[in-house]
Amino acid sequence: MLNGEKKIARPLRWGMVGGGRTGQVGYKHRTGALRDGTYQLVAGAFDLDAARGRDFGTNLGVAEDRCYATYQDLIAGETAREDGVEVVSIATPNFTHFEITKACLQAGLHVICEKPLFFTVAECEEVAKLAEDKGLIVGVTYGFTGHPLVHQMAAMVKKGLLGDIRIVDMQYTHGFNSGDDVNAGEAVKWRTNPETAGPTFVLGDIGTHLYYLSEVVLPHMKIEKLLCDRKAFIPTRAPLEDHATVLTHYDNGARGRLWVSSVNAGNMGSQRYRFVGSKASVEWSDAQPDQLIYEVQGEPNRILHHGMPYLEEESLAVDRMGALHTEGLGDSWANIYLWIAQAIDARMRGDDAFLKTHHYPGIEAGTEGVRWLENCVRSADADAAWVDYQ
Ligand code: NAI
Repeated sequence: MLNGEKKIARPLRWGMVGGGRTGQVGYKHRTGALRDGTYQLVAGAFDLDAARGRDFGTNLGVAEDRCYATYQDLIAGETAREDGVEVVSIATPNFTHFEITKACLQAGLHVICEKPLFFTVAECEEVAKLAEDKGLIVGVTYGFTGHPLVHQMAAMVKKGLLGDIRIVDMQYTHGFNSGDDVNAGEAVKWRTNPETAGPTFVLGDIGTHLYYLSEVVLPHMKIEKLLCDRKAFIPTRAPLEDHATVLTHYDNGARGRLWVSSVNAGNMGSQRYRFVGSKASVEWSDAQPDQLIYEVQGEPNRILHHGMPYLEEESLAVDRMGALHTEGLGDSWANIYLWIAQAIDARMRGDDAFLKTHHYPGIEAGTEGVRWLENCVRSADADAAWVDYQ
């Protein structure tokens, strides 16, 4: 169980780009980072609106002279200080991730970046090489995958409790974009424009969460081919999609079905995962994150509750709240940030042995998410043809 006790020798000096007062995801980063004393927020270029960003940053307790107008100013100002930031989180729209990540790495700063990481696998590979050359960590905030019941599912699969995995059924939908975008806010405008969102809308925005979580639970399974059908129900969003379905063939013969949509009218937004094996199935949804449904063929169904001693060690080790209380998204983000902090700390200490076995969403996880998107787009643009996974 995690309880905030020290996991690294001292807090990392941390800065943020984006995630300002009007940003949707910024608070999730701070909720995750500031839980265990592993990060200290000392600088930021929080907002495109410099004055608002400064006001916001000082309200968070950041010194005024370390609230910068641009990320370039942040890098220049902080690398000139002895006590400058060591790691920067990037919580800005997708099209900025690549240039800001590269600039931070070139300046010798570790990076924690939002998903979808970049637009292309080639960009991911370029950054992976840069990070390797510089000896720096790139973490990616797949925020849901820190939840202890995700790690319970992974442990159960690994132990063989489900048998051979046959069916992977995943859904992440909401209805918040069911209407047109005439009066849409900034966060919808950049998400529906290929120049700022990249090659996808909902596939990248929410589908990559499904894809990465399935990688965590099923690391032994690789995709052989897939078919993606995507559509913009609101025509102004084309060529990007507000709805998509993906069928998948895995290398062990398993079949997958995935649905992402932001036009599932009335749906308040939830993810649902069902992993079906030859003996049993598990099902988890972030709408009821405390419970994991475990169904063994021929036996009464069971509901496993987070934090209970009957769970696998891998799950209990990352539980924070204990079984009596809700364990939610903020706790999951705290785990992700903790694991990335431990990776950065190990890299700073030159502890390669720790890094070899330490699990955190890093540059490979970001790259594989982008690779999945590239394959989905290739299939969708060929009129929903089956494509070999590349
Ligand atoms: P948003 O549009 O709500 O907020 C973006 C923020 O970045 C704003 O504060 C804006 O002023 C600031 N900004 C934009 N460009 C900047 C720049 N060049 N320098 C400094 N600040 C800048 O966007 P939202 O929804 O917060 O998404 C941001 C990123 O986070 C996206 O990549 C998105 O895909 C990802 N995201 C991830 C989630 C997760 O669960 N991991 C959840 C929501 C978003």
